[in-house]
Amino acid sequence: MLGVEDFIDEAVEDIRQRIPGKAIIACSGGVDSMVAATLASRAIGDRLLAVYVDNGLMRKGETEEVEGMLKEMGINYRIADAGAEFFEALAGVTEPEQKRKIIGEKFIRVFERIAKEFGAEYLVQGTIAPDWIESGDGVRDTIKSHHNVGGLPKDLDMTLVEPLRDLYKDEVRDVARTLGVRASERQPFPGPALAVRCLGEVTPESIAIVREACHIVEDEIQKAAAAGKMELPWQYFAVLLPSKSVGVQGDRRAYGRTIAIRAVASIDGMTATYARIPLDVLDAMSTRITNTMKDSVNRVVYDITNKPPATIEWE
Ligand code: XMP
Repeated sequence: MLGVEDFIDEAVEDIRQRIPGKAIIACSGGVDSMVAATLASRAIGDRLLAVYVDNGLMRKGETEEVEGMLKEMGINYRIADAGAEFFEALAGVTEPEQKRKIIGEKFIRVFERIAKEFGAEYLVQGTIAPDWIESGDGVRDTIKSHHNVGGLPKDLDMTLVEPLRDLYKDEVRDVARTLGVRASERQPFPGPALAVRCLGEVTPESIAIVREACHIVEDEIQKAAAAGKMELPWQYFAVLLPSKSVGVQGDRRAYGRTIAIRAVASIDGMTATYARIPLDVLDAMSTRITNTMKDSVNRVVYDITNKPPATIEWE
């Protein structure tokens, strides 16, 4: 890669040349889309519209946070409230690849609507190298169709511009820091959002459980890292399992859901090792999750698998 400053100058110039008209970008608030949006905004100003699709599958407080970041970077943006549409499309679907495809496609359909209204002819995307390498773009077998690639419909009638296509995550973070993008220190979050952390069918109820559990895991791990008890892992979250198990609540039999905690050390997400979390931190997460969601969750487990053989997300 070039020096970071040179990369930024070249990317901005390249976008300016390639986009003579109006462009749209899906901005999830993740580092990739925020960096791509910031570069494109520098190149073409308000001819860029950043769209944040609230798909109903985002983390606690995420919509407000992303809106704050977009404002801070001076990017022209719109928030699309589309949760109901996503839940409707996902009803009854349990197969991970099918979920990804549905979410990717819905995403694009929502954009297309807004893109038409705005008059955009170009679609800017924050696709990075691992997205297309792991999506089997002729390089490897398909492991997961990461939605930046797999969910694009064939009839897309906008020209695709991908300024980060050759970068790996750590390089994108360097660019983000130089641009002053606050998302630079955020952990990665998958395009299909909490839907791939909710094994089995995705419903508003199950998303609410995994959203709260993810919030608790993030909060407890961040507190422990700030107190010097552990290093902040590369990625850390909760997964809601589809099966139920037996427990006790008071003196009564309970039959509830299981939350798996996942936390990994990694450089670029291509390989990972599970994080060695101190037992008292695991204990704090387990107790808080089961106390907060007494009626739905009665078991918490910690995932001790590396990638490979596992992947980071469970779906
Ligand atoms: P896996 O689970 O494949 O994840 O080991 C590697 C990294 O990619 C993220 N991930 C995704 N990102 N769309 C994305 O944009 C997706 O469908 C997707 N699936 C996984 C994952 O969170 C991890 O950081």
